[in-house]
Amino acid sequence: MIKIAPSILAADFANLERDIYAVRSADYLHVDVMDGLFVPNISIGLPVVQSIRAITSMPLDVHLMIDRPVRYVERFCQAGADIVTVHVEADSVENTLKALEIIRAQGKRSGVVLKPGTPAEDALPFLDRCSMVLVMTVEPGFGGQKFMTEMMPKLRQIRKWIDSRRLDCELEVDGGVDPVTCKTVIENGANVLVAGSAVYKAPDIPERIKELRG
Ligand code: DX5
Ligand code: ZN
Repeated sequence: MIKIAPSILAADFANLERDIYAVRSADYLHVDVMDGLFVPNISIGLPVVQSIRAITSMPLDVHLMIDRPVRYVERFCQAGADIVTVHVEADSVENTLKALEIIRAQGKRSGVVLKPGTPAEDALPFLDRCSMVLVMTVEPGFGGQKFMTEMMPKLRQIRKWIDSRRLDCELEVDGGVDPVTCKTVIENGANVLVAGSAVYKAPDIPERIKELRG
């Protein structure tokens, strides 16, 4: 089954509760955390995750675009995240493994994220130690960018590894997913689709979520 994770980065932060309620037919709620260092933008942090937790039962898929996330993963779990993903580029392999371990020890699902310039192989040290791999299909930092079709071989490669090793690992994509590109990512092995603009700019949000399932 294809899962949809609307990104609240495209929501109206002054009306966040309303905009979260609007996507309740989706599977996960995608929360983009940016620190202005790892990416050139600052979005939201711990207090917002905590407030969101109080008003929705949707699983929170927290995408940490922050430098050395090992410093913060425990607090994001305690704030109410269900899935916490960390970028492999944000620290050493050793510290990334440590971050995944902390997330698991909190009883949450952990994942690793690859930027567009990062090869599939960089996910290998983490594949059997996490529940999700997220392949970025835009440069992280901003919503509303153009989908990068050239990421499809990387997506296929990671799907192959997950299937051949029979890993219990979801494969997520993030960036530029819309009613056209959703078909491409599904064909290439993704099973969780993040969508910001495509969901929140739609005239009929529940209909758009259905459409994105392919
Ligand atoms: C980008 C974020 C994405 C973003 C996607 O750094 O990780 O989750 O919200 O936005 P769209 O779907 O508009 O490309
Ligand atoms: Zn994201």
